Amino acid sequence: PVPPAFSTAMPVPPVLRPLTSTGNVDFYELTIRKATARILPGIATEVLTYDGHFPGPVIHARSGRRVLVRHRNGLDMPVSVHLHGASVPPSSDGNPMDVFGPGTSRTYVYTNRQPHASLWFHDHSHHMEAEHVYRGLSGTYLLTDALEQRLPLPKGRYDVPITIRDARFDEHGQLAYTMADRNRTTILANGAPTPSFEVAARKYRLRLLNGSNLRLFALNLSDGTPLIQIASDGGLLERPVAVPVLTLSPGERADVVVDFSRHPVGTRLVLTNSGPGRPEQVGKVLRFDVVRTADDPSRVPEVLRTLPPASALPAAAVTRHIELSMDEDGRPDPRGFINGQLYDPDRVDTTVAFGSSEIWNVTNTNKRVAHNFHLHLVQFRVLERGGRPAGPTEAGLKDTVRVMPGETVRLHVTFDGFRGEYVYHCHMLDHSAMGMMATFRVR
Ligand code: C2O
Ligand code: CU
Repeated sequence: PVPPAFSTAMPVPPVLRPLTSTGNVDFYELTIRKATARILPGIATEVLTYDGHFPGPVIHARSGRRVLVRHRNGLDMPVSVHLHGASVPPSSDGNPMDVFGPGTSRTYVYTNRQPHASLWFHDHSHHMEAEHVYRGLSGTYLLTDALEQRLPLPKGRYDVPITIRDARFDEHGQLAYTMADRNRTTILANGAPTPSFEVAARKYRLRLLNGSNLRLFALNLSDGTPLIQIASDGGLLERPVAVPVLTLSPGERADVVVDFSRHPVGTRLVLTNSGPGRPEQVGKVLRFDVVRTADDPSRVPEVLRTLPPASALPAAAVTRHIELSMDEDGRPDPRGFINGQLYDPDRVDTTVAFGSSEIWNVTNTNKRVAHNFHLHLVQFRVLERGGRPAGPTEAGLKDTVRVMPGETVRLHVTFDGFRGEYVYHCHMLDHSAMGMMATFRVR
């Protein structure tokens, strides 16, 4: 039932309006519920949604201004909502065990005491997070601040969030939750199968999120020009970087600027993927159709922000070693481990001192399986990958970092913001559901 590439139009996800805005608080109310979406032509596909939206909706937030989101659980399953990349108190973090049941509500408090960043929210209910996210429970949360607003970057309708992910459909056009790649796999951009998107001949800021459970993307443009990356998980990079192939593992974000004015109206440019998978199924993500001219007052400044260089980061009191591994002997129910242990919500695996900085060396000990690593609460710095200084695309603030088979990444983490218990895990969500997750306590 999957239509030919580029025959559907890519939707731009809807922006939610607060129910009330008072003083320094925006208050939202959402219902988590089943809905049907028109993903494939003429077919109603059952999905799980935040308030009926597939792709998930967008919340706009501003540093220093609070956002309260009251979620009503209209499903017949417990849920938990995690704001990925955010510094929030434990009670609002959406811990896997901190679920709320069918028919009940939960209000999450987001203080937004952190700089601008392209964040996202998704389900985190223990053992169900992977399937829930796969079926639609993910949304975008764009946090901005004065520093970002001052820059002459593309704004408004020229600043477009794009969530890319894979999906598999059964013969009835329903989402099939299976990891087996022998099923036909399709790439969705903002919920549409390999769609096209009409653009003006000018610059756009594209906020890319890899919303897949397991798939790595390696993205580039079909005209061979590099993508200009301006931001990663935790906001702007110090400087724009030209990236010939942009790699994104699940949960990672990258904002890129593409200047469509280099091409005459009528040009079609494909965003392609050379990541793992069969090229005929996963090799094309979406097509940009340049359909009109437009004024373009926007610009990409040479300096976007300043961050302390690696050499000037606060001294680390502790160095830790974290090993990610999963069974790769072909058993039907592989388990995932961190430092040899399955996730146990009753165990605190790591205790850190509030306000302190640490070095975390994270190693993927598998031979074939890729992983990545996500810490709740903090944005960290990637110091080294495989013993070499991290490249410019990873030089900003990060909350999720890929770790390829046999590889070690060296991270600098400062544990500030809040005290309490949070999790860290592989963000290949099926892996964390298999046990590749652990708890840290900030005290
Ligand atoms: Cu986006 Cu614990 O996850
Ligand atoms: Cu993993």
